[in-house]
Amino acid sequence: MNHPTFEGQSTIEAPAWVKHRKLIDWVRRVAALTKPDKIVWCDGSQEEYDRLCAQMVEAGTLRKLNPAKRPNSYLAWSDPSDVARVEDRTFICSQRAEDAGPTNNWIAPVEMRATLDGLFDGAMRGRTMYVVPFSMGPLGSPIAHIGVELSDSPYVVTNMRIMTRMGRKVYDVLGEDGEFVPCVHSVGAPLAAGAKDVPWPCNKTKYIVHFPESREIWSFGSGYGGNALLGKKCFALRIASTMGRDEGWLAEHMLILGVTSPQGRKHHVAAAFPSACGKTNFAMLIPPQGLNGWKISTIGDDIAWIKPGKDGRLYAINPEAGYFGVAPGTSEKTNFNAMATLKENVIFTNVALTDDGDVWWEGMTDEPPAHLIDWQGQDWTPASAKQSGRKAAHPNARFTAPASQCPSIDADWENPAGVAIDAFIFGGRRSTTVPLVTEARNWVEGVYMAATMGSETTAAAAGQQGVVRRDPFAMLPFCGYNMSDYFGHWLKTGERLEKLSAKLPKIFCVNWFRKGGDGKFVWPGFGENMRVLSWMVGRVEGTAQGEDHAFGVSPHYEDIDWTGLNFSRAQFEQVISVDDAAWREELALHTALFDTLQQGLPAALTQAKRTLEGKLAA
Ligand code: OXD
Ligand code: MN
Repeated sequence: MNHPTFEGQSTIEAPAWVKHRKLIDWVRRVAALTKPDKIVWCDGSQEEYDRLCAQMVEAGTLRKLNPAKRPNSYLAWSDPSDVARVEDRTFICSQRAEDAGPTNNWIAPVEMRATLDGLFDGAMRGRTMYVVPFSMGPLGSPIAHIGVELSDSPYVVTNMRIMTRMGRKVYDVLGEDGEFVPCVHSVGAPLAAGAKDVPWPCNKTKYIVHFPESREIWSFGSGYGGNALLGKKCFALRIASTMGRDEGWLAEHMLILGVTSPQGRKHHVAAAFPSACGKTNFAMLIPPQGLNGWKISTIGDDIAWIKPGKDGRLYAINPEAGYFGVAPGTSEKTNFNAMATLKENVIFTNVALTDDGDVWWEGMTDEPPAHLIDWQGQDWTPASAKQSGRKAAHPNARFTAPASQCPSIDADWENPAGVAIDAFIFGGRRSTTVPLVTEARNWVEGVYMAATMGSETTAAAAGQQGVVRRDPFAMLPFCGYNMSDYFGHWLKTGERLEKLSAKLPKIFCVNWFRKGGDGKFVWPGFGENMRVLSWMVGRVEGTAQGEDHAFGVSPHYEDIDWTGLNFSRAQFEQVISVDDAAWREELALHTALFDTLQQGLPAALTQAKRTLEGKLAA
């Protein structure tokens, strides 16, 4: 073994505050394989964060933004080949292929381990390996779980400090033998002695690998978002969903919000939308003028861990501590609370730099600045953009910001017991076919709706954009096991709850994205979504009316509160109507999905489809 050398706090000998033998041995084994120059045991302090940021400024990875405009904030530009999650390079390596299911990439664990051994051998040469302890969920909460990420990217360390509860306190919870999910990450760009580094090291070869049985994550080649911040999609969704399957709880791609009525009654809603479909905006919604007696408070914007309580209700926590949100389209008009959250202490990635040292992205202001440096470091003007079509910010540009800075943060967002969920909402991005809102008449019908959800693809994942793909529960890229078993798990959860409590959460399906003949969105969306949410609350409380149709219950025009909005009956018809021919095509796509997921597909869902087909034919 090539023995790493160490300075100051960095040592292969763990500091006194790390007492977990197995963890220390594992760090040693990974160091022996990856051969870093140094190991740094992160303590999560502000001083450590500031030092790492200063180092990255020195290396050209970060730019410090103008402190007068954006205090304590930085801008990173990634390598243009490393800008999104790489779903085709993401693997679920369960022992049996059928446990990963047909929608995940699977390679046998032995084979994958041999590949990883080769890739990680010497991968951290010339770099520092950071040991990053983190808790997903409030420290010590019975719903929380701990992970430790070994990464050779200081950008990852600083982002993890915002996105999770990271640092020394985690070791107090872990003690000498607590459980943790081991996560290994390398940008896959070893540095030869004396060679100059690049600002954003990465590798053309990428592997984002999960071993669900041993609950391990190995990520190679990318430094971006969900590929590299392993607490997020890899742990809190893919690994946690398998933990949930085994232990009887749910890990979901859902925002969580509190909604308080003008009468002061509070409900909690969890909502699943695919990536870049407005979860952050919905979680931070500000009701429009006409509905200003309502109040929304934010618990989470991306991930929910949901555990059944003894009272038959479902309790949800947000396992994250920050927002890794899509910047383009975010403005004071579309998401005032997000803009307020972004005032300071933010890491921006792949947005444009203004001449006064601040940031800009498409949609942030009505008028773009006269000159910018775009996310690829090139001069950018509105005129040059018109000519070349070049965006100033990458469409998947992101902000990483502490949740605690959000003005709409819910008083209970760190409540270790979680909040009781009254309704689930599922939604996709569909320019046609799917109505503005539909309520499922029962749990099975709701699971069917969620299971057959489709959405047009976005820039959050590498690959073609704007094509409709089935995205069951908005979990297609994030479910760590067989999707059919996952549907079964949801059905079983419903049955279990029903035995304990008469009142299951209601399930709704929404679509904010129907377009008119002119190609423009018909529904105004954003704050106006409060009108739909208030109808749902009315349904939960048993006060709102609706119309029963083939797929469930939708509101009549009269059932929505239109105070302060000019939205005609004809426009409403455009977003709520059900076109039989389009639905016959849609059901054919459900059939295709069910054919793919045949193995282990719960009979209740095939039956639900047959019932729907019957209703449509009638
Ligand atoms: C995300 C995503 O980053 O879903 O949240 O891609
Ligand atoms: Mn997401």
